[in-house]
Amino acid sequence: MNENITIALSKGRILEQTLPLLAKLGIQPEEDPDSSRKLIFSTNEEHIKLIIIRASDVPTYVEYGAADIGIAGKDVLMEYDGDGLYEPLDLGICRCRLSLAGPKQTQSTNGRLRIATKYVRTTRDYFAAKGQQVEIIKLYGSMELAPVLGLADLIVDLVESGNTLRANGMEEIEKIVDISSRLVVNKAAMKMKQSLIKPFIARLSDIL
Ligand code: PRP
Repeated sequence: MNENITIALSKGRILEQTLPLLAKLGIQPEEDPDSSRKLIFSTNEEHIKLIIIRASDVPTYVEYGAADIGIAGKDVLMEYDGDGLYEPLDLGICRCRLSLAGPKQTQSTNGRLRIATKYVRTTRDYFAAKGQQVEIIKLYGSMELAPVLGLADLIVDLVESGNTLRANGMEEIEKIVDISSRLVVNKAAMKMKQSLIKPFIARLSDIL
């Protein structure tokens, strides 16, 4: 059977840090995905294709088998509501943390705190575990702006250097979870294409 494997990646930090990993395995895309508008790339290894999609779509493509393998941040995986994924490797790249943060001078609020975040599910679970009722406001980016303009009291967002928080007069209140990029694999592909996928995982885990 003429099998191949499709690996789903996303633009930005994951792509920047994954391409060098793939290069260490000797896998090179036919052209630079960073500068190309193409969404699908063949590589020098005939049976390996790369697709470039939005980070939050990676688990969906992998769960439904449109991609066999994906690389996604733990932040994205924690938000994803599916169960068709294996997560065999922590790649240790794109390390940061998901944290609760807020303005340096905290305004006292009567009633429920309002929390702006892209990470609704994780935020809901975090406050539920504390037994605290909050109102969660879903945003798609630039969360740091929300407390500045009074849209929310606090935010839950990724923090790496802390520069974005500092630049907007905010500080980290509590780390919720450490984040890094993970390899995810479609469950059916893990069985059906194991002759290709197992060696790929083994090669990757050797260089980590
Ligand atoms: C992420 C995150 C913070 C920032 C944290 O945003 O949402 O805004 O990086 O990094 P720092 O602590 O080093 O400043 P990103 O630049 O990935 O853009 P996004 O908001 O579109 O996700």
